[in-house]
Amino acid sequence: MSSKYISPISMDALSSLCGELGKNNSINKSDFSRYQVKRGLRNEDGTGVMAGLTRICSVEGYYILDGEKVAKEGKLSYRGYDIKDIIESCVEKNRFGFEEIIWLLLFGNLPTEGQLQSLYEVIDACRALPDDFIEDMIIKNPSKDIMNKMARSIMCLYSYDENPDDITIPNVLRQSLQLIAQVPTIMNSAYQVKRRAFYGKSMYLHPIVPGLSTAEYILRQTRNDKKFSDEEAKLLDILLMLHADHGGGNNSTFATRVLTSSGTDTYSAITAGFGSLKGPRHGGANLKTTAMMNEILENVADPTDEGQIKDYLVKILNKEAGDGLGLIYGMGHAVYTLSDPRAVILKKNARELAYKAGYEKEFKTLENIERVTPGLLHEIRGIEKDVCANVDLYSGLCYKVLRIPEDLYTPLFASARIVGWSAHRLEELTTSSRIIRPAYKSVSRKREYVPIEER
Ligand code: COA
Repeated sequence: MSSKYISPISMDALSSLCGELGKNNSINKSDFSRYQVKRGLRNEDGTGVMAGLTRICSVEGYYILDGEKVAKEGKLSYRGYDIKDIIESCVEKNRFGFEEIIWLLLFGNLPTEGQLQSLYEVIDACRALPDDFIEDMIIKNPSKDIMNKMARSIMCLYSYDENPDDITIPNVLRQSLQLIAQVPTIMNSAYQVKRRAFYGKSMYLHPIVPGLSTAEYILRQTRNDKKFSDEEAKLLDILLMLHADHGGGNNSTFATRVLTSSGTDTYSAITAGFGSLKGPRHGGANLKTTAMMNEILENVADPTDEGQIKDYLVKILNKEAGDGLGLIYGMGHAVYTLSDPRAVILKKNARELAYKAGYEKEFKTLENIERVTPGLLHEIRGIEKDVCANVDLYSGLCYKVLRIPEDLYTPLFASARIVGWSAHRLEELTTSSRIIRPAYKSVSRKREYVPIEER
């Protein structure tokens, strides 16, 4: 384990510096409306500021009628194909779909059998990391946080690339395909190293075998005995498909596009996606939902009872329970209103496995939260807008059913979303030649410089 670094900056010094910082960093709330600032890049009605055009993905949760936002059932489409149709077809035909989605998002069309086969071959060829990478970059200096280790590993891969800074499309496509294949390998290696370094458990680095779907590969590598059922792999495949992209405006994809627009290298741009996704308001929300669920199960005698769950959720909203922020995790979305299609699909496909695995009570608790939260937000917070369950309400339980450790919840999201980041980076490079550069209005008053001896 890496030795602990004790910061030479004392708490006393910090508290005095924070006093200075606080004095000079406040901005009147009214100034934001005075200067018509689009806070969070949102319009007055909460819709996102239009920042670009994309052919890759569409996220629909409302429509505008006579200038008013009208709620509708959510729809997520990849390259024009409804994700619901893609997943329903995969379930019906009992086949894996994530690799098909990789092809669709990157190249724009559904792959033929031959194209899909060639993609499997490329992924197989790229799964392994460079010689000694695991020893030199992952085992040394382990991290408590797998997302942190993954981001660092991606940055390190820059120095193993003979042509890292070339941003022509063939080179970026090569780098993207390599990273899409390598990220699950990095994730598992980082997790195994954490098990050993922080939990005192054995580290399993199973040899890589070819011919597996990404879902099978992940379950095989992360399980000590390498065993999993086809039903489990198909549920993980659905999770990967649902997390592969969510339009150009989601925080991590936008971050990737922002860095791409500066002309930087693939490793830097993709690392930005990791840094963003780790945040609890974005990909990290699945961990928050799990923590909230565990707390409810510990404190509510019968969480499947509507009255009892309501009482506890009121406490969470009033900041007397939960993480103290007053948020019911797994509920609400910036775009979706009546429903988040990802939550609807997960709920439908996870129920049977959850019941089989003995998580019936947990599943019913989530359904209860989904049912009562919109009314509570209205009664207690006066929120008029429609609030629905988002993808994170059910994703944590799916991972639990799959016996996936909590350490891997957000990293799994990243293993899927890297496909979207790559597709958007390639689109940014082919369709835009302008650096993304919004404006910040300065609200500082003008001051004359004062020489140091006169202050
Ligand atoms: N619990 C409590 N309050 C919520 C809420 C929730 N789950 N969802 C929305 N609200 C509140 C917001 O805080 C906001 O209050 P304010 O006007 O006092 O600031 C109001 O409802 C309207 O919010 P809205 O415009 O719908 O949301 P947003 O676009 O600003 O934020 C989320 C969307 C996802 C960040 C928000 O719904 C949330 O924090 N949800 C819980 C975290 C979560 O599950 N994240 C995963 C998203 S996939």
